[in-house]
Amino acid sequence: VIAFFQPKLLAGQKLLVTAGPTYEALDPVRGITNLSSGKMGFAIARAAHEAGAEVTLVAGPVNLPTPRGVKRIDVRSAQNMLEAVLQQAPEATVFIATAAVADWRPASSSERKIKKDGSGQPPQLAFTENTDILATVAQSPRAQSGELFCVGFAAESHDLEDNAQAKRKRKGVPLLVGNIGPATFGRDDNALLLVDAQGSRELARASKLSLARELVADIAARLS
Ligand code: CTP
Ligand code: CA
Repeated sequence: VIAFFQPKLLAGQKLLVTAGPTYEALDPVRGITNLSSGKMGFAIARAAHEAGAEVTLVAGPVNLPTPRGVKRIDVRSAQNMLEAVLQQAPEATVFIATAAVADWRPASSSERKIKKDGSGQPPQLAFTENTDILATVAQSPRAQSGELFCVGFAAESHDLEDNAQAKRKRKGVPLLVGNIGPATFGRDDNALLLVDAQGSRELARASKLSLARELVADIAARLS
């Protein structure tokens, strides 16, 4: 009976979540992307909505249904994702970056399909580094003052805790969540390592939705 009167964990909070891969066009028919399925980010959006938050989900190209009650903005490239995030961030109280943002984009994208030139030589591709969306948001005054709580994700192939702690500091975020291998992309389950200034805590292997609910509860406890 008492539970009935308890406010939801994220009542009054506005969550902004990025999810999925980005797609960096090389020409009208080709591009560079990665195998992120978006499942973890979509699960977090769903769990946060269930916990009473107003949720905006900025999604790269994925094949997933929009969680009920969640506002979804579809984007393609890292630059599109950055624009959408910067537009929404001033409203948000929590930003969770789960997207596998492409680190580089082709320095130039051809308006016409690139053709073989008959020489047998492949084209020389040049790349430009994409803006770090999470670090950009984390440097904003609202994030610095604690009005906007920023959470990053990281997939590391080795030395997860050390790499995650270093990445957390480099990004300037209070919480970084590491995916505990084997490779999580596309799977329905995962295990997470929560890394903050005090140290780390493991969330044992479970479905992405149960982990998302645990993470939402952990983040709620960190707010205010
Ligand atoms: N991220 C981002 N924008 C980018 C690159 C990464 O917002 N251009 C975010 C991801 O969404 C994730 C976090 O930063 O929350 C860590 O991403 P990751 O790829 O692990 O870190 P990088 O800084 O790109 O370092 P590297 O890939 O070299 O390990
Ligand atoms: Ca990266």
